[in-house]
Amino acid sequence: MEEETPTEAFTYDHPDNHVEQREQISSQLRASLFEIPRAEWRASPRFRGEAEFWMQIHEGLLKASATLPAWLKQFQEMDDMGTMRALSPRIARLGSDLVHHAHGHHHIEDHHFFPAFLRLFPQLDHALEMLDGDHKVLAEVLDDLEAAVREFPVAPEGTDKAQSDRAMREAWLKGAERLLSAAERLDALFIRHIGDEEEICIPAMLQL
Ligand SMILES: [Fe+2]
Ligand SMILES: [Fe+2]
Repeated sequence: MEEETPTEAFTYDHPDNHVEQREQISSQLRASLFEIPRAEWRASPRFRGEAEFWMQIHEGLLKASATLPAWLKQFQEMDDMGTMRALSPRIARLGSDLVHHAHGHHHIEDHHFFPAFLRLFPQLDHALEMLDGDHKVLAEVLDDLEAAVREFPVAPEGTDKAQSDRAMREAWLKGAERLLSAAERLDALFIRHIGDEEEICIPAMLQL
């Protein structure tokens, strides 16, 4: 791999940078960051307030993105129609709430947070460009999750109960499989993106 100098253009699609391929923040990008280890963030007098609040939002998003696949796996193991009937609307609500919250959070970051950061810390330009690229990938993944939530059946119908239960269970399991793969993809990307976003932005916030 060639060494990049800071003046070279940043390429998001490079395996070192793409959210679905990178395994860490590259050493080139890391060199532009403020170095405060994660374990020391909370002890900073500047942590309380915005940095803490922002990390709480992330915690909520990560908790929801981990809960959705966990519930879906439980759902796939169920053989009682009553329990499935009770859990299916909760799964759909969790999925749509997660999509809604993630879009709202990314909107604030894209339009307020990142532009302000770039003005204050121009040396973070490539790191912020990477986070912006992540958001574009995440937008597609969220669209896919939203479609899977929409397709997931929550209101069983039918007159012949035995027949409709069988058909309903089949439809549920098919919907759950599709939803699970979208939810697991989002969860993996969130863990990568949110973790790196904090590594990039929190030490900078602690300078303010
Ligand atoms: Fe983000
Ligand atoms: Fe974020």
